[in-house]
Amino acid sequence: MAIRISSLVLLLGAYATLVAAQCPQVHVFGARETTVPPGYGTAGSVVSAIQSAFPGATAEAITYPACGGQASCGSVSYANSVIQGVTAVANQVNSFNTQCPNTVLVLVGYSQGGQIFDDAYCGGGDTNEGLSSTAIPISTAAQKKIAAAILMGDPRHIPGLSYNVGTCQASGFAPRPTGFQCPYAANIQSYCDSADPYCCNGSDANTHQGYANEYGSVALTFVKNKVNAMLSGTGGGSPPVSSTTSAPGGGSTGGAGGGGGTAAHYAQCGGIGYTGPTVCASPYTCKVSNAYYSQCL
Ligand SMILES: *[C@@H]1O[C@H](CO)[C@@H](O)[C@H](O)[C@H]1NC(C)=O
Repeated sequence: MAIRISSLVLLLGAYATLVAAQCPQVHVFGARETTVPPGYGTAGSVVSAIQSAFPGATAEAITYPACGGQASCGSVSYANSVIQGVTAVANQVNSFNTQCPNTVLVLVGYSQGGQIFDDAYCGGGDTNEGLSSTAIPISTAAQKKIAAAILMGDPRHIPGLSYNVGTCQASGFAPRPTGFQCPYAANIQSYCDSADPYCCNGSDANTHQGYANEYGSVALTFVKNKVNAMLSGTGGGSPPVSSTTSAPGGGSTGGAGGGGGTAAHYAQCGGIGYTGPTVCASPYTCKVSNAYYSQCL
């Protein structure tokens, strides 16, 4: 009996290792705008660009109505759609984080999709849509793994937030209350221009649909910096738990790093501009992904 139990423990251990090995370094959640078919909607090109920047990165779309009362999306009211969306974000992000607790997460939301990420990541409730709970529905553990959130045409826009990008100086149709602060402001970019009728007070719907083209490349640069910082343990969220186990640096081995210590499993261990440890914790080795990024695998 004792032998059988120890065999079972070994099997479970091997299974856990296998599952962890299948977890990507980066996972992207995308949420589409109102009335477009299920998928990423106009957030799609930004989601793809992030995946291309981090080889092996995976992505999933938030499953929610994305409706504003239209028959084509089941006549679900905008408010009901947002509330379902916020719940879906929390469920999908928390579930993924439970399976892959070390994976760095990115959120990309377009219009109503931006609103549900804004509500789910920043909390504060959304009285515009009848969401009265002010709690952040994403788990504490998962919050700490979100490196960046890209919001495009978010109707919750108000002027003056530190993460606003674009020409809009007015509020969207579902604005945050005056004085609102997001606890994760440093990880967010919210793109909105003055001609936009939904996140701002303009009248040009084409402006609202143009953000992926207009801001896609600056959004990608922001995400790359935030993700790389979190992967190397210097990011805005909590560093990966395992990276705190680095040994004291007893003399540099030279090379690009030389910061001493070891890089944890999945952490960055090299690349142009990288200054952290270049030696991986046993038994992992430093594998080159591209000129800017090597990872302990
Ligand atoms: C939009 O709001 C800004 C800031 O309050 C204001 O200056 C501008 O005139 C408004 N534009 C329109 C079209 O109402």
